[in-house]
Amino acid sequence: MRLPATYNRVADSNSNTTISTTDNNYLRINRSAFRMSKKTTGLLSTTVPEWIDTVLADFDAFLTDHANCERKANALLMSMIVKYPDRRAMIPRLIELAQEELEHFAETYAFMEKRGLLLSKDTPDPYVNQLLASARHGRDERYIDRLLIASVIESRGAERFRIVAENITDPELAAFYEKLWKCEVKHAHVFVLLLNQEYDEAMINARHQELLALEATIVAGLELRPALH
Ligand SMILES: [Fe+2]
Ligand SMILES: [Fe+2]
Repeated sequence: MRLPATYNRVADSNSNTTISTTDNNYLRINRSAFRMSKKTTGLLSTTVPEWIDTVLADFDAFLTDHANCERKANALLMSMIVKYPDRRAMIPRLIELAQEELEHFAETYAFMEKRGLLLSKDTPDPYVNQLLASARHGRDERYIDRLLIASVIESRGAERFRIVAENITDPELAAFYEKLWKCEVKHAHVFVLLLNQEYDEAMINARHQELLALEATIVAGLELRPALH
């Protein structure tokens, strides 16, 4: 298991991320995200170099898995909207994120179509399932954990999209993964900042750190495969 002392470059690079909306609240969230970027979304481990070798050795399999991840990200957001109808402040944000994930799915599928690839059925994702299993019970605890777990998953996705962008030779795919990397970093921040608007920031940060530590342990135990996780 690799646990470097410093936060990785995903968090550091976020200072250039922008949110393309004219909504004033959202812009306010965005400025906070810049201030908090190093504190709140720093993964506690970096992906091993062998991961990208595995991905590039079967990029078709990676694309197929990636499309499923985007589709499931959209589905998870929509399920949260249904599950928490009284959390009115977050619903417009989650709808916006869900729309972006659906767009990512469409774009990823377009690359699959060009390669003559078919979508595959869902297979269990041990990474996501282990993280979700750690969500606490209790109304607030479960809500907080679901959003923080979503943030952690976004952070790892962002880190790995950056690695793909920096290593793939196809310029169209490199540009696509660079765009996704920046977008998923933004998503990771939005979840945390939504929680900080409702709860004590120190409490949210402490739980976030616990989940980031758990995530590093889970990632270290994953079998390498041509997939996002
Ligand atoms: Fe996405
Ligand atoms: Fe995302």
